[in-house]
Amino acid sequence: MLSKKSAVPFRGTKEQEEELLKVIEELKDEKGALMPIMQRAQDIYGYLPIEVQKIISDQTGIPLEKIYGVATFYAQFNLSPKGRYQISVCLGTACYVKGSGDIYNKLMEKLGIVGGECTPDGRFSLDACRCIGACGLAPVMTINEEVYGRLKVEDIDDILAKYE
Ligand code: FES
Repeated sequence: MLSKKSAVPFRGTKEQEEELLKVIEELKDEKGALMPIMQRAQDIYGYLPIEVQKIISDQTGIPLEKIYGVATFYAQFNLSPKGRYQISVCLGTACYVKGSGDIYNKLMEKLGIVGGECTPDGRFSLDACRCIGACGLAPVMTINEEVYGRLKVEDIDDILAKYE
C-alpha cells in the first residue's frame, strides 16, 4: 500500500518544499506535531502525496508507514489532488435508495479512477458525499457548483461531455 502513488504526477516546486521545511523545523519538537505538520503540508500543496509524506518522514524521523496511516485514516487529508472539475456523488440514504451507488460506479468505470482520486490529466476528481439537502432531486451529484438531479446512469456520458 505504501507504494500507492497518485495517478497525477507530483509537481511540487522548490518554493513549496522550502516552505514545508520551515514549517517542520518550527513544529517538529512540539508534542503531537505530526497532525499540524500534515495539515500545513496539505495547505501548501493542496493535498498530501507520498512524495510530501516522505519529506515529512525524513525531516521528523517519524516512520513513513505511520504518516501514511494517519493520512489515509483521517478524511481531512487528500492523497490525490482535486481535479479542475470536482465531481461529488451523494451517497446519502435518499440518493442511495434511488441508485446513486450505480452512478458512482459508472463514474469510476468511465473515468478509470476510484473515489478520492483524480484523472491523470487533472480534469476530473471523484468523491462521494453525504446528503447535500437536495433529496427531492435524488439521486444527485455535483460538478463544481453545478447540481445534477434525478440522474440516470445513461445520463453520465452526456454530462461529462460538457466538461471536455
Ligand atoms: S440524500 Fe442525497 S441529497 Fe439528500
